[in-house]
Amino acid sequence: MNKEKTIKVESNSNNPLVYQHEIDVLSGKFDHCPLVVKGLTKEYIKGERALDELTFAVEAGTCFGLLGPNGSGKTTLLSILYGLLLPTSGSAKICGKDLTKAGVFRKHIGVSMQFDVLWDTLTTSEHLYFYARAKGIQNTEEHVADLLNSVSLVSKRDSQAKDLSGGMRRRLSLAIAMIGSPSVVFLDEPTTGLDPVSKRDVWNAILKFQRDRAIIVTTHDMDEASAICSKLAVVNRGELIFIGEEFEFREQLESEFKYVLELQFIESSRDKAIDFITRLVGEDQLVKMKDDIEGIEGKISYGVGKDASINTIWNGMREQDLSDFGITEWQLGETSLETLFLQLINSQAIIIKDKKQEWYRRLIGLFIK
Ligand SMILES: Nc1ncnc2c1ncn2[C@@H]1O[C@H](COP(=O)(O)OP(=O)(O)OP(=O)(O)O)[C@@H](O)[C@H]1O
Ligand SMILES: [Mg+2]
Repeated sequence: MNKEKTIKVESNSNNPLVYQHEIDVLSGKFDHCPLVVKGLTKEYIKGERALDELTFAVEAGTCFGLLGPNGSGKTTLLSILYGLLLPTSGSAKICGKDLTKAGVFRKHIGVSMQFDVLWDTLTTSEHLYFYARAKGIQNTEEHVADLLNSVSLVSKRDSQAKDLSGGMRRRLSLAIAMIGSPSVVFLDEPTTGLDPVSKRDVWNAILKFQRDRAIIVTTHDMDEASAICSKLAVVNRGELIFIGEEFEFREQLESEFKYVLELQFIESSRDKAIDFITRLVGEDQLVKMKDDIEGIEGKISYGVGKDASINTIWNGMREQDLSDFGITEWQLGETSLETLFLQLINSQAIIIKDKKQEWYRRLIGLFIK
């Protein structure tokens, strides 16, 4: 599978951050990183790419958020990196070792699958001893005690897995992934299905483990990405479409919309409400993002352009008797990470359909110098 020699130092990306990152990785600037992926391609069916020349690197001390809609290739990528699948071409190195040399790299990897792989009748500490011995760890007593402490499961050390709550099971899975202090850890949707408190417990445990390691987390939860990830990567249809820090993600996408205006109105007054808001904000500064009818009421979410005056909107809304326009509720807020993510994915869907690259660049506000 090692076709690295044939990979050219070039990038087709329209996104300047992805472009620069790909060029840097392919030219070897990130070869010191614990995880380096170059031109990784996977075709389950010949000619159909689930991964399309994916190139990126993850530095030590990073919690790397791998985001992307359903079917974008996240699990395929992780399966190749765990060693469960072979790529069609390209290379992936963990701590400098090629993935084809299985025995060599496994000790550097920790994995927590999306669904718990626990034995109901084994206790918490028995799980940790079992995996520690399987990984050939010395001083298991001390190591297991440290891990139990890190995931706050000391009081549950003798409880069987079947008697643990969902959040505790996830924390136990996390501790298993961290056995032997691996340099690269993969966490597939670590908090899916957890309540907000358990979720925070898992986040805190991940943050504790982050030091000196490369942690790769897949998630659909933007709050999670924001809370624990120091770097974000977005894949869509097997291609990397964004890589960078959260502020860069916001900076690139917010250059078009910085605020979201939500408007609720009596459905029979729809035209009046829309006309009022269009005049107040300015037609060229309003982009409709979502339009729902909820019974007798309608609800529209608009992206507000960067040139609109927030003060004018704020004062205009407060000074008018909004019932004259059938408006029952409104809300003006900063664009959430989730809205920006949807915007990025939607703009990709359009580019793939229309191939209008200039329009795409303008929409997501990329300034290609
Ligand atoms: N075993 C397989 N055989 C054929 N095609 C597959 C196989 N596994 C995945 N695919 C295809 O590869 C693409 C990527 O799927 P993948 O499971 O990697 O996506 P994902 O990003 O993990 O999605 P999700 O968020 O839904 O988990 C999809 O088009 C999927 O249909
Ligand atoms: Mg998946």
